[in-house]
Parts: sequence; structure tokens; C-alpha cells
Amino acid sequence: MTTPNASSSGTFKVGDIQIHRLGFGAMRITGTGIWGAPADRAEALRTLRRLPELGVDFIDTADSYGPFVSEDLIREALHPYKGLLIATKGGLTRSGPDQWAPVGRPEYLRQCVHMSLRRLGVERIDLWQLHRIDPKVPRQEQFEAIRDMQKEGLIRHFGLSEVNVEEIEAARKVLPVVTVQNRYNLVDRGSEAVLDHCEKQGIGFIPWFPLASGDLARPGSKLDEIAKKAGASASQVALAWVLKRSPVMLPIPGTGKVAHLEDNVAGAAVKLSDADFSTLDALGRKASG
Ligand SMILES: NC(=O)c1ccc[n+]([C@@H]2O[C@H](COP(=O)([O-])OP(=O)(O)OC[C@H]3O[C@@H](n4cnc5c(N)ncnc54)[C@H](OP(=O)(O)O)[C@@H]3O)[C@@H](O)[C@H]2O)c1
Repeated sequence: MTTPNASSSGTFKVGDIQIHRLGFGAMRITGTGIWGAPADRAEALRTLRRLPELGVDFIDTADSYGPFVSEDLIREALHPYKGLLIATKGGLTRSGPDQWAPVGRPEYLRQCVHMSLRRLGVERIDLWQLHRIDPKVPRQEQFEAIRDMQKEGLIRHFGLSEVNVEEIEAARKVLPVVTVQNRYNLVDRGSEAVLDHCEKQGIGFIPWFPLASGDLARPGSKLDEIAKKAGASASQVALAWVLKRSPVMLPIPGTGKVAHLEDNVAGAAVKLSDADFSTLDALGRKASG
């Protein structure tokens, strides 16, 4: 059997940086509730070190994963990141497991960037994403703070997370937006308008939670039938569907296990026919409501 490779997913340019479209989400290399160290630290490091061998050159993390644990492990496993795009985020604070609160005050965003630079051991962050727009702070102030840090050379490219079209356009009046990261999968289609907008504007769309297929995957279902025909698992078909949905789609499935990573990368090679794509599209839209 040939080793799976993320190159099967095709390429996309994040600003001036070319990557394979299938990336990796580094949220799952932390403890329960995305808090503290992972249960199996050695396996988490093995998973990270396997990424370049499998052609995965786009890694998504955040200062709040752990917090700090994910960025620290990425540095330990992969620094100096030759040929890798490490995308991080800031603007969410943590006060315990599963607790997340946005803070978008300019001085805090500046601290996030400086501390991520230090933890990752780089002089400039290739892609820095605002994890959430803080509703308590005028968004213009948040965007201007980030624009200033880009001008100073602390960040190369900027992305948004969990935003609508109007918010993307408000940010683009202040600085270029190269990616948008929203929850999206076959059965969670609340961001269709944002995806279509990104495609029109050439902005990368990073769907988080991309492997889900919900009840569509039950034994004997259409998805199950398509998966069996392709010799693939339901989550590989869900991933293949997401990749086929748009050329700007950059999914980042996450895991702390080498075997699961290999499964996910193999999913990039699963090719759906146009007919199967459309059937799943219709079923997914219906399930999403
Ligand atoms: N911007 C945001 O607000 C936001 C929010 C959430 C996540 N994210 C980003 O998006 C990435 C992906 O999101 P996600 O982790 O929620 O969703 P996901 O990648 O769709 O699913 C991850 C879950 O599936 C399991 N899994 C992964 N591969 C598997 C496989 N081949 N077989 C069986 N189980 C498998 C993982 O557990 P195991 O570890 O046991 O494999 C984990 O529980 C995160 O890592 C993070 O970078 C962003």
C-alpha cells in the first residue's frame, strides 16, 4: 500500500505561501476540555512529526489550546518548520477546561502575538488569526491593532474565525484577510454564504470540525453505501466531500493519534463522483436544516 500524502488534496495559496489543501488541526494534542497536557504526550509528538512525512504542510493551532500546550509541542516537534505554514490564533482567554472568553483589547491582542512569536520561536507569524471578534471592543480597534502589527512585520498574513460576510468586509476595509475559519462540515452548513463569498474573493476557507457526518453515516445509509463503494470510512468520505465542495476549502482535521492522522490523510485521495457529491450535498443540506 502506498503511503498517503496530503498532496492528493491539491494546493492553495495562503497569501504568498503555497500549501496542500489538507491541513492539520492541533487542538486535539492537549488534555480533556482542551486544557493542559495531552494524555499521551509521546504519541502527540509522534503525530506532529509524522505530518511532514505525509505531505501535510499547513498546521492550525492557537495560543488558547492548552493554553500554550499546542504551540509548545509544535515547537518541540517541528521547529524550525522548514516548508511548513504554522497558523496560530489569539484573542480568546481560558479560565478552565472548555471555558473560552474573547478579549479583543488592542494591548491584549499585541500580547497574544508577542507570546506566540516567543513560544513558536519565530520572528514573524505566517498566518495569525483573530480567534473571535470581541463584541465588547469596537471591532475597528481590533482590526487596526492587527494591521499595525502586520506593518511592524510581526505577522505576515491575517485570518478571521467564526465570522459572517459583513464582518469579513468590515475587516477587509482595514487590512487584507487571507483566510476565514468557521465551523463547517457535510451536515453543518450554516456558513454556506461565507464559503461562497470566500470562493468569490479568493479567500481560503478553513472548515473546523470537518469530519462530522452525523446520522448520515448510519449503517445502510447512502453515505455508508458510497463509503463502501470507495473502500473508505464515513469520515474519509465526509472529508472528500468537503474538499470537493470548493477549491478554497482548507480542512484541518485534528487528532492526537498517528493512526487517525494517516486515515485522515488517506481521505484526501478518495475521489467522489459528481453524482455521489450531489447526493451527499442534498442529504447534508437537509440534515443541516
Ligand atoms: N476556530 C475555531 O473556533 C475552532 C474551533 C474548534 C476547532 N478548531 C480547529 O479545527 C480543528 C479541527 O476541529 P475538531 O478537532 O473540532 O474536529 P475534527 O477534526 O472534525 O474531529 C476531531 C475529533 O475526531 C477524532 N478523530 C480524528 N480523526 C479520526 C479518525 N481518523 N478516526 C476516528 N476519530 C478521529 C479526534 O479524536 P482523536 O484525537 O482520538 O483522534 C477528535 O475527537 C482543531 O484541531 C482546531 O485546530 C477551530
